[in-house]
Amino acid sequence: MVGSESRYQTFLDARKREGLRRSLNEVTARHARVISVSGRSYLNLASNDYLALRFHKTLIERAAEWAETYGVGSGASRLVTGNLDLFASIEAKVAKLKKKPAALVMASGFQTNAAVLQSLFDRSVLGAEPLVFSDRLNHASMHFGCQAAGVRELRYRHCDAKHLGELLSQYEQDERPKFILTESVFSMDGDVAPVGEIAELARARRATLIVDDAHATGILGEEGRGLSGDADIAVGTFSKALGAYGGYVACSETVRDYLTNLCSGLIYSTALPPPVLGAIDAALDVAPHMDAERAHVAGLAKRFRDGARAIDLSTGASTTQIVPIVLGSPEAALEMSGRLREAGFWAVAIRPPTVPVGTARLRLAFTAVHEEAEVDRLLDVLAEEDVPRRARAM
Ligand SMILES: Cc1ncc(COP(=O)(O)O)c(C=O)c1O
Repeated sequence: MVGSESRYQTFLDARKREGLRRSLNEVTARHARVISVSGRSYLNLASNDYLALRFHKTLIERAAEWAETYGVGSGASRLVTGNLDLFASIEAKVAKLKKKPAALVMASGFQTNAAVLQSLFDRSVLGAEPLVFSDRLNHASMHFGCQAAGVRELRYRHCDAKHLGELLSQYEQDERPKFILTESVFSMDGDVAPVGEIAELARARRATLIVDDAHATGILGEEGRGLSGDADIAVGTFSKALGAYGGYVACSETVRDYLTNLCSGLIYSTALPPPVLGAIDAALDVAPHMDAERAHVAGLAKRFRDGARAIDLSTGASTTQIVPIVLGSPEAALEMSGRLREAGFWAVAIRPPTVPVGTARLRLAFTAVHEEAEVDRLLDVLAEEDVPRRARAM
């Protein structure tokens, strides 16, 4: 084994000893509700397909139609010949949904954060390394973008506008460009950032507010607009409630133009393929009209939280369709995940480094295809379990 391989193996062995080793499960999905793994079917409680749009007829039909008409690939980067005329109308729909002057569609949500933040924080353009104030639980892709730009983030306590305000005050006299980065709905906690309050701070301190609306777009806000309305720049993905794939930035015309000129993740990457664009386009037509589904999902999540509290399980600060059961150790989370599996529920254990040490959890996500009776059955199974439980206030 060459030197690097043996080091990788040492890393993997250590991960295993700590209960943190990850592996890829092969799953079969023919419907949004159920996944099959190793020949057994489970109720899928771990998907981000909150509106069950990935199996929606309109999305499938438009994806197929656009594949048939425009081919299955786009052939080149958007800066070369891949900027199919399909993009313009999609970007107009995104800009309208997000109430911003312009939008830019990119590859995945991860790539959008990685590439867009790197470009926005370019010190040769800004004249100095920017000051980037960042929620400490922001998604890995946001940290990645900061690292790619060589920026050291100033992390404030999770969802704590007061702490952010204090940090901003410390840098009041600093003339460097300031940015604030937050998710709207946090992917592992299902809690909501005080975006309005943060936006006020941003205005007062002349900072640019960037909000990642990945887990709110489609499923929260009026007509599924998400919760990034107060942001200067909204980023997000079509891969969660919108059921498809791809990322976007909603911003000013200037920022769009700037990214088109500098953002390497846009310039040097092949444009999204027509079937994916078809699915996105259809999702943007369908999702605004799904108020009943949004209300149903919110009701299921609340029903679960109320029931979980009654049996003394901690659901953290969740108020959305994402509901964690915080268990503490990786072992406890794995054990609970295994027991739910035995009962026919697929819920994934989320462990460090994805979440802070001591807060390993199951991350449940309720979707439009779940039913109240299933939530009740899940609660019954959990009530029977004798697992380490965290205090309700955690
Ligand atoms: C907050 C947040 N931003 C970005 C992403 C990445 O999006 P995508 O899955 O489209 O790459 C995710 C998904 O995990 C996320 O939770």
